[in-house]
Amino acid sequence: MDLLIKNGTIVTADSTIKADIAVTDGKIMAIGQNIKAENNTEVVDANGKLVLPGAIDAHTHLAMPFGGTISSDDYEAGTRAAACGGTTTVFDFVLQDFGENLVDAVKRRQAICDPQAVVDYAFHTGIKDVSGNLIDGIAESVEYGVPSFKVFMVYDFGVTDGTFYKVLQKSKEYGALIEVHAENNEMVNMFTKQFLEEGKTSAWYHYMSRPEFVEAEADVRAIQWAKSLNAPLYIVHLANAQGMAAVTKARDEGYPIFAETCPQYLYFTNEVYKREDGRNFVCSPPMKGQESQDALWEGIKRGDITTVATDHCPFQSYEKDWGKDDFSKIPNGCAGIENMYPYMLSEANKGRISFNKVVELCSTNVAKIFGCAPQKGMLVPGADADIVIYDPDKEFTITQDAMHSNSDHTIWEGAKLNGYPIATYSRGNLVYKDGEFLGKKGSGKFVKCKPIKLTSPSL
Ligand code: URP
Ligand code: ZN
Ligand code: ZN
Repeated sequence: MDLLIKNGTIVTADSTIKADIAVTDGKIMAIGQNIKAENNTEVVDANGKLVLPGAIDAHTHLAMPFGGTISSDDYEAGTRAAACGGTTTVFDFVLQDFGENLVDAVKRRQAICDPQAVVDYAFHTGIKDVSGNLIDGIAESVEYGVPSFKVFMVYDFGVTDGTFYKVLQKSKEYGALIEVHAENNEMVNMFTKQFLEEGKTSAWYHYMSRPEFVEAEADVRAIQWAKSLNAPLYIVHLANAQGMAAVTKARDEGYPIFAETCPQYLYFTNEVYKREDGRNFVCSPPMKGQESQDALWEGIKRGDITTVATDHCPFQSYEKDWGKDDFSKIPNGCAGIENMYPYMLSEANKGRISFNKVVELCSTNVAKIFGCAPQKGMLVPGADADIVIYDPDKEFTITQDAMHSNSDHTIWEGAKLNGYPIATYSRGNLVYKDGEFLGKKGSGKFVKCKPIKLTSPSL
C-alpha cells in the first residue's frame, strides 16, 4: 500500500461516509474502517476534511487557435491550474482542420498534449468538415477512444444545419455522442453588423448581439432534430432560461437530451458587460440575465443539468484589449479551470446544494456520459486514485496572484469562497498541496473513452 488517507469524510455522488482510503500503484485498493498501514505506507490524516473524487472538466480549450490568436494556457499551464483547483482529468477540444481525418486531428493534438499534461486528459473533437468520406472518421474515432464530437452552430467554422443533422444520424450508428454549441449565427452576425454601424461598440453589445432568444432558438432547433432521430444530444455551456425549459421538456418526454452549464453562468450575470473591464468577460454564449441564472440553478436542483464544466479558454489582457473599441474583435473565452470545483463546493458549503450533487455534476456524471467510468469520477476499489482533500473551514478569496494558469487576469477576482481544496492526488501522486503545485510535466495520461448507449435521460 502506497498511500492511506485516514479518518476523512468520503463524499461520492450518492453517499457520505467516514472511512479510510487505501491506494496502491495509483489505484484505489480499499475503502473501509480502520484500514491498517503497511511499513512504507504514507499516511495522511483527513480528520475534519472531505475526501472527494477529483473533478473532471468536460470542456476545455487549451492552446486552441481561436479568434485570431491562441488561447493562453498550453496543456502544461492549463492542467497545472486544473490540478490546483482539484480537477484531475480534462476533456479538451480538438478542432479538426478542413479536409483532415478526424483521428488524425486527435493524434495531432495528442502529440502536443502528452509531453505537457500534468493530469490525465481525454478529447472531444470539434467537427468542421464531413465532405467526401470524412464522416467515416466518427467510427474510427470511437474506436480510438474519442466517442464525443462537438458541432458549432456559430463562428466562421460552424457547420450547416444539414451537416449537423448528418452527424447526428451517424452518431446513432456508432454510439457517439454529439455536443452542440447552440446560438443562431445569422442573428449574431446581423446584430453585430447593426450595432457596429450604429457606433455601439462596447462589451455590452457582445451580450446584446447574442441575447437570450438567440441561444434559446438554437437550443430548441437542435433538440428538435435530435428528437426526430431519437439520438442523444449534449448541449454545451447552456446559459439561458428558455433553452433550459426546452431541455426539461425533452427529458420529461423521455428523450436522451443532456445539458452542461458553467460556473460563470451560475455566478455572473450580463451586468458584467457594463463594467470597465467588461471585455474580459466576453465569452460565447455570453452571461445572461438574472432570470436565466435562476433557471440554471433550478435545472441543477431538478436534475435537468447533467454536468458543470468550465469552457476554459483564456486570452491575455492585451488580446482582450483588441476589442476596446469594437466588441467583435474581443477573443471569446475566459479562464475558469481552477475555479470550478472550489466555487461549486463553496456553494454546497453555503447550503445551496449538497456536496454529493457537486461531485455528481463535476465528476461522476462527466465520467458516465463520456465513457470513462468507473476508472474516473468515482471513489471505488479499482478506480484511479484521483482524489481531492477539501477543507470546509478554509476561507479563500480568489486573486490573480493565487492562480496557477498562464492567464494574466481572472474574472473571478475577489470572489469569496467558503472552503477550499488543500490537496489533489492524480493516480495516487500528490500534485497540489496548500496552494502549491507539486506535479510533473508529462505525467498526465490519455484516457481512452468508450461509447455509451444513451437511450433515455438517465445515466
Ligand atoms: O467563448 C467561448 N466559449 N470560447 C471557446 C469556444 C466555444 O465556443 O466553446
Ligand atoms: Zn462553444
Ligand atoms: Zn467551449
